[in-house]
Amino acid sequence: MRELKLPHKSMSREAVLSKLKSMKSEDVDWQSGRMFSLIYNAGEEIRDITREAFNIYFMENGLSPFAFASLKKLETEVIAMTAGLLGGDTETAGSFTCGGTESILMAVKTARDWAQVERPNVRGPEMIKAVTAHPAWDKSAHYLGLKVVAVPAGPDFRADVAAMSKCVNENTIMMIGSAMTYPHGMVDPIEELGKIAAENNIWLHIDSCLGGMILPFVKKLGYEVPAFDFSVPGVTSISADLHKYGFAAKGASTILYRNSEYRRHQYFAYADFPGGVYATSTLTGARPGGPIAAAWAVMNYLGEEGYLRLAKAAMETTRQLMDGVNSIPKLRVLGKPVATVFAIASDEINVYALSDALKQRGWLLEKQHLPASLHLTVSPFHAQLADRFLADLAACAKEVENIDSSSLSDEAVMYGMMASLPDRSTARDFAVDYLNNLYRLE
Ligand SMILES: Cc1ncc(COP(=O)(O)O)c(C=O)c1O
Repeated sequence: MRELKLPHKSMSREAVLSKLKSMKSEDVDWQSGRMFSLIYNAGEEIRDITREAFNIYFMENGLSPFAFASLKKLETEVIAMTAGLLGGDTETAGSFTCGGTESILMAVKTARDWAQVERPNVRGPEMIKAVTAHPAWDKSAHYLGLKVVAVPAGPDFRADVAAMSKCVNENTIMMIGSAMTYPHGMVDPIEELGKIAAENNIWLHIDSCLGGMILPFVKKLGYEVPAFDFSVPGVTSISADLHKYGFAAKGASTILYRNSEYRRHQYFAYADFPGGVYATSTLTGARPGGPIAAAWAVMNYLGEEGYLRLAKAAMETTRQLMDGVNSIPKLRVLGKPVATVFAIASDEINVYALSDALKQRGWLLEKQHLPASLHLTVSPFHAQLADRFLADLAACAKEVENIDSSSLSDEAVMYGMMASLPDRSTARDFAVDYLNNLYRLE
């Protein structure tokens, strides 16, 4: 039984640090690069400057721009650099947030409060999104009282604009386009969504949490990238995470608006608190200074030339990996991914068994469903591992091609079962119970 109290005696510095290190050794070894999600690995040199910058500001609190004026300046410079990459101009306004989910929550709150003023006839605000848009949209709508209309994506795994436009009604205040989608690495048809949004006075948000810090560089390198940013008429706001392909420390994202009139609706102020007039820009009260400083540092350290170099490495590796996957019998890449994120599927091989076999060889690939596939977010660091990965993938595909269901791992069976449940609320309840159980104190 776990003790529910602080240790009575102080622990030595050495003991504390060694305990932490030994606990951490049980985690996945991401530094080897043998995983394709969660970590955006651009190598130790970049992590080193990010870590140092983080530490310079590790106690500072961005809640007060008066006490910590330098953090306000760093935030403004980070927002300006991001806006410049995403088709913004001096009218563009934005905020630094702690991650994609906070940026998305802010976009939904801002659109909702904007609609209360600009669309006063709305009764019960609705958001239209493709099912491939990130669940942070459903979560934010759930928190903020919007109804989500989730529309199946087209056969090319991009948002089906015709189907989405059929769902527009007098309560539609917001539409979502993704650039890129997490499951398959697609860029939705943003120009077409922009037209519908502009015609109907609907807020259009582009979720570039994943793509915002790589697509502009991929485009500059000469690859084809459809228009997705503020250059597209009708786009109202964009989220772009710095802790993904910006290679910043975790806790760093941006939410950008076409102008500060939109952003006004994001802010919260309370004037009657005895502790003083309280006004904040985003969800958080206290705002850690470390992630802001680390993001500023890595953006300046790399500059455009550094990001182009990293994007080139990640793109060339992705193309090598996708070609390699498509040349392995019975495996294929889903759709035509635009940049550095893609999914592996098969009509004949159980991809969950494939992921189990890869795990045996030290590779960690996330399982996806609807349809069943394995996820790859490619980092520059993967360049040195691509040949080895493809050799292991081919060997594992052969190994599992005739596997019968009795030899599948519990995890693979559970994943298949969850995907096939006709009642999705049972799958949701299962996930909630699982989490609730996982974080017990005993
Ligand atoms: C497209 C997209 N949007 C939003 C998010 C959520 O970001 P975060 O995990 O930083 O909250 C992700 C995360 O992968 C994403 O890929």
